[in-house]
Amino acid sequence: MFRLFFTAIFCLFSLLVAAPPLASQTQPQAAQEPQLTVEQMKAFLLSAKVIKEKQTSKGITAPSRLTLSDGVMTHDAGFQTIDESKTKMEFASGGTEMNFRDSYKFNLAAYDLACMLGLGQMMPVTVERKIGGKTGSLTWWLKVQMDEADRMKKKITPPYPESWNEQMHRIRVFTQLVYDMDRNLTNLLIGPQWQLYMIDFTRAFRVHQQLKNEKDLVKCDRRLLDNLRKLDARQIEQAMKPYLNSSEIKAITVRRGKIVAHFEKLIAQKGEKEVLY
Ligand SMILES: Nc1ncnc2c1ncn2[C@@H]1O[C@H](COP(=O)(O)OP(=O)(O)OP(=O)(O)O)[C@@H](O)[C@H]1O
Ligand SMILES: [Mg+2]
Repeated sequence: MFRLFFTAIFCLFSLLVAAPPLASQTQPQAAQEPQLTVEQMKAFLLSAKVIKEKQTSKGITAPSRLTLSDGVMTHDAGFQTIDESKTKMEFASGGTEMNFRDSYKFNLAAYDLACMLGLGQMMPVTVERKIGGKTGSLTWWLKVQMDEADRMKKKITPPYPESWNEQMHRIRVFTQLVYDMDRNLTNLLIGPQWQLYMIDFTRAFRVHQQLKNEKDLVKCDRRLLDNLRKLDARQIEQAMKPYLNSSEIKAITVRRGKIVAHFEKLIAQKGEKEVLY
């Protein structure tokens, strides 16, 4: 139902290749939250004990919300274990998708790819972990004020439009790169400082080599475009092979080239000032 109603038009290859965060992104830490580095959050997620479990309220596959503790700190995490493939998926809405895949592995791939592009701060820190006999993706539970579906329903205008739009353009570029079938508005979370977070990539990484919606690519962060230009097929292959098959990896490489070519064409037509920020 959420999917139907809200369908919008809208790390770790190696630490050596993880691009530094794009500077204008705010640090996602609320005042009373512990100030931890990404590595500390990963270490906590990988080793802390599960002390409580409940289902998340939104979404189709309803991952669990776990409370973890290492004896010093207690923090929640989202645990997604889905890993399904179907030759033909028939949705309740009447639509179908061939070669359907819904997998926690795509959450891991998306996080590592985001880190390589300097977009790691726009996603919760994500690791792979086996809990209760099941392997899944475990994400740092974010402090959020609402999701994008709620914001639109309540007609709340974001207070910093420029920063908001810049974040949205980064999300659009990333969405085209990973070819996500489920970028619905409940998968976009809004932090206390109006920073945007992308979650839930379990239906991304389709094998299509064309872009899903080229028209969504209007503007691009300069450093993101540079990082996309620098990302080569070998780096993508190395980083993604634990999670993706060869067709899924090849498709990222081809779409990367198409995104870069698209922006180069736009720059040639409109000038850099109109396209890059
Ligand atoms: N790391 C997180 N931090 C904060 N909230 C989260 C986090 N992970 C999940 N949530 C909340 O739980 C909801 C459901 O999670 P998620 O979107 O991953 O699963 P889903 O929609 O059931 O999956 P699918 O769309 O593949 O069926 C999200 O919409 C969000 O509100
Ligand atoms: Mg979701």
